[in-house]
This record gives sequence, structure tokens and C-alpha cells, in this order.
Amino acid sequence: MDIVNRLSPRQFRTYDDLLAFLSIYDDRNRLRAYRQLLRAHHHRIRGAVCLEAGCGLGYLSEELLRLGARRVYAVERNRLLFRLARQRLGQCDRLQLFCTDLSTFSPPEPIEVLVHDFYGMMLYDEDLWTLDHLPFQPGLVLPDGGYLMAGLTESSRVCDRTVTPEIFQAFAGVLVSGLFDAEDLPGRWHVARWHFGEGLQISPPDLSGEPGDVLFFYLSVTHGNKEICRAGYCSNWPYIWTPRIGDHFSLTFQRRSNYGTEVVFRWL
Ligand SMILES: C[S@@+](CC[C@H](N)C(=O)[O-])C[C@H]1O[C@@H](n2cnc3c(N)ncnc32)[C@H](O)[C@@H]1O
Repeated sequence: MDIVNRLSPRQFRTYDDLLAFLSIYDDRNRLRAYRQLLRAHHHRIRGAVCLEAGCGLGYLSEELLRLGARRVYAVERNRLLFRLARQRLGQCDRLQLFCTDLSTFSPPEPIEVLVHDFYGMMLYDEDLWTLDHLPFQPGLVLPDGGYLMAGLTESSRVCDRTVTPEIFQAFAGVLVSGLFDAEDLPGRWHVARWHFGEGLQISPPDLSGEPGDVLFFYLSVTHGNKEICRAGYCSNWPYIWTPRIGDHFSLTFQRRSNYGTEVVFRWL
């Protein structure tokens, strides 16, 4: 889905975000995994003050209410999603919706449980940064962690008639999402780890002596170090592919204004 007509940069960003975040609702496995995670913590949610950070259409806020939260603050910065969430959720005296950026939100009372999906396909390339710089301290964050996994495979195994090995090689130095169907390949290395309260740690592996001419990355979302959902199985997060042209690479993330964090990747 693409926007075809000319819009102001601000309008474009608002509508583009709406399109990007609407498509996550095609992914039933992600929603199921999140609902299971919330239900597993029903004893912490019942009677608690909860916050959904970036509520989108508000499905998780709804689940928090269903599980007996005393109050739910649903915060969404995209004004179109905010309006749609307000229409969907209607009036409920236990729910308060705010159209604002989480980084500027001051909850009127202590937050006992915060729920979010701020994971990017490369782990930190969406908005986990905001959770690392919260102006308040929630009692429990769901989910509280994640990994960026990496692995090597052979182009003969993943390339097809359209993306031949020669065409794939043209992308040297470029990370491309969703290029191949093989989104069940297991990763071997934990390239980056994020944990709430500890931030992001990056440790790219040494690939010397390892076979494979295709490097791939994928996201694994964890809570309490147990995987709750992952790229591939959850269509919302595609695998990322790049031709291997060395044994060492560097990976960093650069914050660009309030609207996300960019991936900087280089072969060394
Ligand atoms: C991946 S969607 C998740 C939506 C919903 N929480 C769910 O899991 O179904 C992320 C949402 O967070 C919003 N968002 C991202 N960063 C935000 C921020 N700093 N403050 C408020 N909303 C934010 C986006 O606009 C988007 O609607």
C-alpha cells in the first residue's frame, strides 16, 4: 500500500504511519501472542493502573480492561489512529485516551503495568529508545526484552528465479526486508539484546570460518527471557537479508528526531 498523491511532509508522515501500523493487524499470531502474555499476567493487571504505549487501534487496551485493570491510559501519537481508537473503544470510565508522544506524557498517577509493541524489524529501529528514556518508572513492562538474531545461509538455498544470486549480489552493503520466503531459518547469533531498564547491547559476531554467503537478521520478542513471538511466524516483522561480503560488520542505531531510530550497518 502506497500513498499516491502529493501531501505536505507532515500529512504524508501521518498517513504513512497509519498505513504501516494498520497492516500489523493482518498478523493474527502477534496479537494472539500479546493477548496470551497479558493473560499470563492477569494477577498483576487486575485492579492495576495500566498504560498502553502507542495504542494503535486499542486492541491491547481492550484486553487490559477485560482483565480487570482499574484504569487504562492509552497513549497514541498518530492523530488518525488516536481517532480510530476512540471510535472503536467508545466511552468507558476506566479508560483515558491521549493523543500525544509517550516521551512527553506525564501520567497523573503511578503506572503499575505498561504494555507496548515498540519493536522494529531490526529490534531497536522503531521506538524502544522512548522506553529507555521514560520520564516515569512503570512497575512492570510487558514485554520486557528482545533479541536481534542473525544467521548465515547459502544463496542457492534462498534465491529464486526472480532474485537470482547475481541480482542478490547487487545489494551488497544493503539490508533488504522480506526478499526471500525462507522466514523459518534459525539464527545462530544474538547480535543485539534489549532489556527494559538495561537498554541496548550490541555484539556483532565474528563470521570467520563460518559457511554461507547470505547474512540474515530477525527479531525475537521476549519476556523474562522466554520468546513470546518472533519474525517470520509473526508476519508483522520480516526477515532482513544482505549478501555476505566479509567476516565482520558493525551495527549501530541513530536516533533521528522523535520519529524513530535508523539502522547503520557496515561491513568492516
Ligand atoms: C506496532 S504499533 C502497536 C499498536 C498496539 N500497541 C498493538 O500492539 O496492537 C505501534 C504504535 O505505537 C505508536 N507509537 C510509536 N511511538 C510512539 C510514541 N513515542 N508515542 C506514542 N505513540 C507511539 C505508533 O503510532 C503505533 O500506533
